[in-house]
Amino acid sequence: MLDRLNAVAPDPILGIIAAHAADPSPQKIDLGIGVYRDETGNTPILASVRKAERILLDTQTSKSYLGPRGVPGFNSAMQDLIFGGSSEPSQQGRVRTVQTPGGTGALRIGADLVKAAMPGAKIWASDPTWANHYAIFPAAGLTLERYPYFDSELSSLRFEEMMTALSERGPGDVVLFHACCHNPCGVSPDSGQWDAVADLAADRGFLPMVDLAYQGFERSIDEDALAVRLFAEKCPEVIVASSCSKNFAVYRERVGALSVVCAEGKKAADVETVIHSLTRKNYSMPPAHGTALVDIILHSAELTELWLREVNGMRDRINGLRQALAERIAAAGIERDFSFLQRQSGMFSFLGLSVEQVRRLREEFSIYTVDSARVNIASFNDRNIDYFIESLQAVL
Ligand code: LMR
Repeated sequence: MLDRLNAVAPDPILGIIAAHAADPSPQKIDLGIGVYRDETGNTPILASVRKAERILLDTQTSKSYLGPRGVPGFNSAMQDLIFGGSSEPSQQGRVRTVQTPGGTGALRIGADLVKAAMPGAKIWASDPTWANHYAIFPAAGLTLERYPYFDSELSSLRFEEMMTALSERGPGDVVLFHACCHNPCGVSPDSGQWDAVADLAADRGFLPMVDLAYQGFERSIDEDALAVRLFAEKCPEVIVASSCSKNFAVYRERVGALSVVCAEGKKAADVETVIHSLTRKNYSMPPAHGTALVDIILHSAELTELWLREVNGMRDRINGLRQALAERIAAAGIERDFSFLQRQSGMFSFLGLSVEQVRRLREEFSIYTVDSARVNIASFNDRNIDYFIESLQAVL
């Protein structure tokens, strides 16, 4: 039977990792996958996470199954982090948060939940969106459509067009948003625009689903959750897929959470049982290690303070790199305007290069980006930035 299967091309983002690893050039740069890197090019283990690991080693008494809910303390701490400690929907018992294997696990279980609730529901995603969104939702049997989002000419948000398109959505539609640090384009609505989007969702009755993968990487933990909090305040139902991969730098530990807001507490309890049945059918029980670390950090005032400092440090480094890149590209005499790099936020921006130029960067200069010319800003450092700018100049 398996003889009927043919090889599948690697996911474009994951393919870059392999191609970069195989390149012997000492000057090679991997601008592909979205992992934070420090000045040495390493993706560090946060000090808060190391401390939590020591505590875990000393205190963990069993590796027995966690049960479908995962670590209950993690779920409630994540809910506070996402919705705010005293959010009204949480206090009303209308929010349920369930640990998932990474943000991707949350997206998939969220998609399964939508499919279970309304098999014909459509999901609307920004154009463009994270490459894996195009795969996850159809894999769950949902149709994925797009709404206008990024203006590649102006490197900015097509806000009016987005609002016009979303005003045609209604009950039976799920609209997917990136809460902050839009992946791949780095452009987010401002607070007034989010307010208008949340009003529109409430007015039109579509269900907002929020991908919160970079909380703390754009402005702050609280400000980056603004979209979620506005939707939760104004709309009866919201789905949130959140990730700890980036802000706790626990990528490989697969830590995420699916949160649902329902119109009333009784329904939220019912929906949670549906989530448990979906996870049981899918991966049975969630993983424990990374979640336990986040749980320890968020229940220790000292470790939370340390962790917040580390999140701020990662964000400041990325913002500093954005500014340095924009300034040094201009100083190098490159005519094309790259000042948008400074106005955008988070790990990613599009460089606005053709596939041919991307290929030249890869083949002639060992600089790896996905074909869309999305770059991971955190991959730059003092040692590679000049080489990158020279190479960019050569292909422009
Ligand atoms: C990315 O977009 O590079 C990250 O979200 C990592 C991934 O899994 O694709």
